[in-house]
Amino acid sequence: MDVEIPSKLTRRLGAARRVVALTGAGVSAESGVPTFRDAQTGLWARFRPQDLATPEAFRRDPAMVWGWYAHRRAQIAAVAPNPGHVALVRLAARFEQFTLLTQNVDGLHQRAGSSGVIELHGSIQRSRCLECDLPQPDTSSVGTPPPCTCGKSVRRPDVVWFGESLPVAAIDAAMTAADDCDVFLSIGTSTVVYPAAELPFRAGRRGALVVEINPDETPLTAHADVVLRHASGVALPALVAALEAA
Ligand code: OAD
Repeated sequence: MDVEIPSKLTRRLGAARRVVALTGAGVSAESGVPTFRDAQTGLWARFRPQDLATPEAFRRDPAMVWGWYAHRRAQIAAVAPNPGHVALVRLAARFEQFTLLTQNVDGLHQRAGSSGVIELHGSIQRSRCLECDLPQPDTSSVGTPPPCTCGKSVRRPDVVWFGESLPVAAIDAAMTAADDCDVFLSIGTSTVVYPAAELPFRAGRRGALVVEINPDETPLTAHADVVLRHASGVALPALVAALEAA
């Protein structure tokens, strides 16, 4: 399907110095990672992510939650970044400052070659101690949460769960970037989970051109200056091609 890139968008991006992209689960959908609100498959089909990704669920049944993350880590290890991830690397190279904010915990942006990614919701590739907070890479696949080397407690996935605050440094950096950008791209996110969902509105209030890339409508759609109603793996390469041709 052809993607029509409005000239307003190529013009504003052509003149932009600072650009921010906020990504959500939709960007990884074409890699085969189920979005958060998609039905789960297999063993986990009877659970809702909203009921597993909580501190209460971990307290109630640490092994179950640990197992679910191990399952997701295995799913992610088996997939590859898609053309949307790759296009964002090419896009970043065009600007004086390009800030990539992601709500995804899958590390696919980094695997595609993006650097300086701000992970608003943590990373599934790490765990951290419940007691000392020390983050560590995680590759474990089964079993119960392992003890931390501090000996005081066990490790938990280093992700943000429902009801938890975002890492302060990450959300501060995200707000600063949103407040001071020329163009804000909101890509593959349902724009319903705060505070990340606030970022495009914030950027718009400060005069940035707000662009939404999503096949479906979201609460941002009516407020966006430009809407590309396509999958990100199609729209982002088309956008890069349009900029390169301009
Ligand atoms: P969601 O699962 O809420 O939304 C995914 C969005 O991607 C939807 O708006 C889809 O329409 C869109 N989408 C689907 N396929 C797409 C494609 N190929 N290209 C572009 N867009 C596509 O995921 P998020 O918005 O990332 O937080 O969810 C935000 C947060 O909610 C998650 O990070 C997670 C969850 O609670 C925590 O775990 C704290």
